[in-house]
Amino acid sequence: MATDRWAQWLLTRRDGDSAALRARYTPDLAWLRDGVLDRADLAPEDVLLDVGCGTGLIGFGALDRLGPDGRVIFSDVSQDLLDHCRRTADGDERCSFLPAAAEDLAGVADASVDVVTTRSALMYSDRKATAFAEFFRVLRPGGRLSIFEPINRFTLQHRPDDLFGLSGGSPVDDLLARVRDVYRGATEAAERPMVDFDERDLLAWAVAVGFETVELDYRAQIEVPAEPIGDWEVLKRVAPNPLVPTYGEAIAAALADEERERLDAYMTTLAAAGTSTRRTMAVAFLRALRP
Ligand SMILES: C[S@@+](CC[C@H](N)C(=O)[O-])C[C@H]1O[C@@H](n2cnc3c(N)ncnc32)[C@H](O)[C@@H]1O
Repeated sequence: MATDRWAQWLLTRRDGDSAALRARYTPDLAWLRDGVLDRADLAPEDVLLDVGCGTGLIGFGALDRLGPDGRVIFSDVSQDLLDHCRRTADGDERCSFLPAAAEDLAGVADASVDVVTTRSALMYSDRKATAFAEFFRVLRPGGRLSIFEPINRFTLQHRPDDLFGLSGGSPVDDLLARVRDVYRGATEAAERPMVDFDERDLLAWAVAVGFETVELDYRAQIEVPAEPIGDWEVLKRVAPNPLVPTYGEAIAAALADEERERLDAYMTTLAAAGTSTRRTMAVAFLRALRP
C-alpha cells in the first residue's frame, strides 16, 4: 500500500486515482521513457542504474530493451516505491533494488554501471551538483548518462499566476487567486529545489564533473492548449506535484462553502464545454558520456 508522499503521488494523487486520467497520461509517459532510453544507447548486456525510479517507468522500459545478461538497479529514496517495483518485477533476476538518494549513491561501487538514467527525480534533490558527481563516479569509462527534467523555473518566470492556464478574465479569478496563494504559502520552501536550476545548470554540472559529449534537447511552451479539464471532480483529486496539496485540498483551505460552490459551478460548466487547460512549461533531455 502507498504510504509515503512519493508513493502516494505516483500511485494516486498524480491522476486523482482515475483510470481515465491515467490512460490520458500514458502516451506522454511513454514519450518520456523512450526519450530517456533512446539517448542511453543501451547494449543488451548493460547494467543500468535508474535513480529515483518511482514505479519503474524507466527501469521496466529498460528491461524490455536489455538481453538476458542485462541488469537494472532500481534506486529511490522511497522504500514504498522500491517495494512496489519489486512486486512488479515479479522475480525477474535481472532486477535489484537500492534505497538511495541521487546525491549519495554509496551502495553503488565506483565505475560499476554502464548507464545512469534519471527522470524527474533530480529536481527534488537540494544537492544536484553532488548528484552529478555521483553519476560520474558510478559510471565506468564509456558509460552513458541520460536525464530528463522539467525546467520549472521557466514556468515560474512566464506564468507564475496560472492555475489550469485559466487565469485572467474569468468570473472566478478572485477565487483562483486565493487558491494559488495556498500553494505559494504552504509549499514555497519545499518546492525550492524544483525551481532553483535550469537547463544551463544541467549542462554546467555535467561538464564540471568531467562528462564529455554533452548534449541537451530543450523544449519550451507558453500557453499551449493541453488536455481538457475533463471531470472537475477528478481534477480536484489531483496534486500537481508530490510536495503540494491536491487542487481540492487547496480549495478547501482557501475558500468558504459558498465560494467553493461558485468555483465548482463555473469549472463544471467549462469542463462540460470541453475547455482545454493551457500548458506553460519547459523540459530538457540531457545525455553525456563518461570518458
Ligand atoms: C516524479 S517521480 C518520478 C519517478 C520515475 N523516475 C518516473 O519516471 O516515473 C520522482 C521520484 O524521485 C524520487 N526522489 C525524490 N527525492 C529524491 C532524491 N533526492 N534522490 C533520488 N530520488 C528522489 C521520489 O521518491 C520519486 O520516486
